[in-house]
Amino acid sequence: MALLEGKVAIITGAGRGVGREEALLLARQGAKVVVNDVGAHFDGTGQSRSPAEDVVKEIRAAGGEAVANYESVTDFKAAKRILTCALDNFGKLNILVNNAGILRDRMIFNMSEEDFDSVVEVHLKGSFNMSRHVCAYWREQHKNGNLLNGRLINTTSDAGLLGNAGQGNYGSAKAALAAMAIIIDREMSRYGVTANAVAPLARTRMTIEATPQTAAWMGEVKPGEFDRFSPAHVAPLVAWLASDDAKDVHGEVFRAGMGTVWIMWGWHTVATVSKAGEPWDPAALGARVKEHLAKGITPKESLAQVADIHG
Ligand SMILES: NC(=O)c1ccc[n+]([C@@H]2O[C@H](COP(=O)([O-])OP(=O)(O)OC[C@H]3O[C@@H](n4cnc5c(N)ncnc54)[C@H](O)[C@@H]3O)[C@@H](O)[C@H]2O)c1
Repeated sequence: MALLEGKVAIITGAGRGVGREEALLLARQGAKVVVNDVGAHFDGTGQSRSPAEDVVKEIRAAGGEAVANYESVTDFKAAKRILTCALDNFGKLNILVNNAGILRDRMIFNMSEEDFDSVVEVHLKGSFNMSRHVCAYWREQHKNGNLLNGRLINTTSDAGLLGNAGQGNYGSAKAALAAMAIIIDREMSRYGVTANAVAPLARTRMTIEATPQTAAWMGEVKPGEFDRFSPAHVAPLVAWLASDDAKDVHGEVFRAGMGTVWIMWGWHTVATVSKAGEPWDPAALGARVKEHLAKGITPKESLAQVADIHG
């Protein structure tokens, strides 16, 4: 039996790239899918119905069930209508994948207020909008004895988990999405829900057109060769996290791509300095902190390790 037989999923931004592969795989695994996509350019401008429509056609042609939705996740009321779309068409909702995203890279000293706001609006506010309505629905259903085993997956990024120059808007929103998954999990696990976050690593419009240095690192795909950077490598983790089998996976953060899944454990104590009684003298405190930082891994070394992974 397929892993997601009988489940209903919403995937936002599922008309292209990572979200498209997630929609196709979830449908192949038996889920009925709401393919949400506003059809925007990578910077968030413009709109088109064809990305979502094309994915729905592809799913139906393969024998699956899907419906398109073109609303923007940035609109709180529209987010509720995306949930209603799942309920009207398929009668319930089990899975929410918050994937929609845009990019407006600038160094902090050049970033306009609009560049900051628009990126935070799609990623962070959009994921809040969707999660808010869906979690209220799951809680209400649970109270009525309807056990839906809700699964929420936020899409985070290396830019947020590890930091990346030029992405102060995007990286800040993406770090917040990892935190939001952990927090939602703590609030919703009593209702049978799990929430986790996945950072993709994949060749998509966002990496090829919007981030030239990543495009250069990924290189070209040879004709006939399977692309090791295909977003199809991200989707299997999301499909499994969405399944009943992943019921004990709570508030975890992963990276996924190139056939590899990284289990990421973030902020954790590596050393402490303490003093009883009176508050520290700042200089004395600084000396002790420096001692420990000198022993441990610095952010620079940690970034060098990431560069290693990136080849
Ligand atoms: N590709 C990667 O390597 C990578 C790395 C880290 C994170 N991510 C994240 O993965 C997600 C998918 O990115 P992708 O690489 O597939 O990019 P993409 O540009 O191919 O797809 C993003 C989709 O989101 C849609 N979208 C944008 N704004 C929307 C809105 N307001 N409402 C609904 N849909 C909207 C776009 O129309 C687009 O189809 C994003 O959240 C991105 O930040 C991707």
